[in-house]
Amino acid sequence: MFLSRPELIKKEIFDIAEYVPGKSTEEIALAYGLDPASIIKLSSNENPLGPSPKAVRALIEAAPGANIYPSADARELREALSRYTGFPVSNIVASGPGMDGLLDGLCRIIIEKGDEVIVPTPTFAYYELPARACGGKPVFVKRNPDFSLDPEKVLEAISSRTKIIFLCSPNNPSGNLLPEADLRKIVENTRALVFVDEAYVEFADRNLAELLREYDNLVVGRTFSKVFGLAGLRLGYGIMPEWLVKEYSRAATPFSVSLPALKAGVAALSDADHLNKSINLAREGREYLRKNIPFTVYPSQANFVLVDVTPLKSKKITESLMKKGIIVRSCDSFREAGDSLIRVTVGTPEQNEKVVRAFEISKTEV
Ligand SMILES: Cc1ncc(COP(=O)(O)O)c(C=O)c1O
Repeated sequence: MFLSRPELIKKEIFDIAEYVPGKSTEEIALAYGLDPASIIKLSSNENPLGPSPKAVRALIEAAPGANIYPSADARELREALSRYTGFPVSNIVASGPGMDGLLDGLCRIIIEKGDEVIVPTPTFAYYELPARACGGKPVFVKRNPDFSLDPEKVLEAISSRTKIIFLCSPNNPSGNLLPEADLRKIVENTRALVFVDEAYVEFADRNLAELLREYDNLVVGRTFSKVFGLAGLRLGYGIMPEWLVKEYSRAATPFSVSLPALKAGVAALSDADHLNKSINLAREGREYLRKNIPFTVYPSQANFVLVDVTPLKSKKITESLMKKGIIVRSCDSFREAGDSLIRVTVGTPEQNEKVVRAFEISKTEV
């Protein structure tokens, strides 16, 4: 109806490649004429058990209070997170929407035109987005063929303009952990902020948060979207030095954590049963998938596995699985991930069996 007005938009925005999310159940149902109820969605690393029943109850109980703004500093949730993580409230920031909101907030206070951020690829695609929107330039460092990180390469990529180094452990989409010694090497040799993304840490054998007690340029990002099954509420948090909490809070969007999200988050943290069930389901399921998917499957410390379908193409296999009502994530939209990798979220045991069967059939069809 109207001509576009690109002159109103910051130049940096045109450099942003569109973020490609996993396909939704509705999209696939429509595309292949399937009953949405029959579709298994294993493309976004969500919790197949759903949220904790305690969190659902808290959401319902919070509903009548939705006319009132939530507390600006999310104190109740930060206190619960303090008990959960073992860090003081003064080191914790609650963020919305999700951990993505934390990344937005940090870039907002740190990145200005011409600054650089380091992103080891392949990894979670969002890091470069808020950095670019703030005028920053991502510097990509390719991971080793087994997806481990070469800390020397990261250090070589540092310049006088480097402001943030994004590290992900377990890494999405490869599922491997960053060794503590590698993180120490990087943190100790830069003045930049090192952001460790621990979205999947509950599924892993180790976390890196304890290093926060030793370094003042380290931040750990976490989320309620994965093990806590609250992706739809968009709730995340960061653990960071007090000096950074102060500056972050100065520029953060006020009330970014909604009242229902805050209450559900507190309730989810109190449900150790659901947490343990979710962790065990993922740990057992990922071993099952690793042994039974008829392609190369990488070891994983997360609630997903990475499948290499070489010599076949990930897009073809993904399409073939989707026609069977199984949504998985072709990794061809991840930088430096090539065209043969597929990320599969661990489902329930029944879903995992269906996935394996579908991979077997697709292997012969494609
Ligand atoms: C590694 C990683 N970090 C962060 C996020 C985003 O988390 P949130 O849903 O809290 O924004 C995701 C979501 O898939 C992720 O895989």
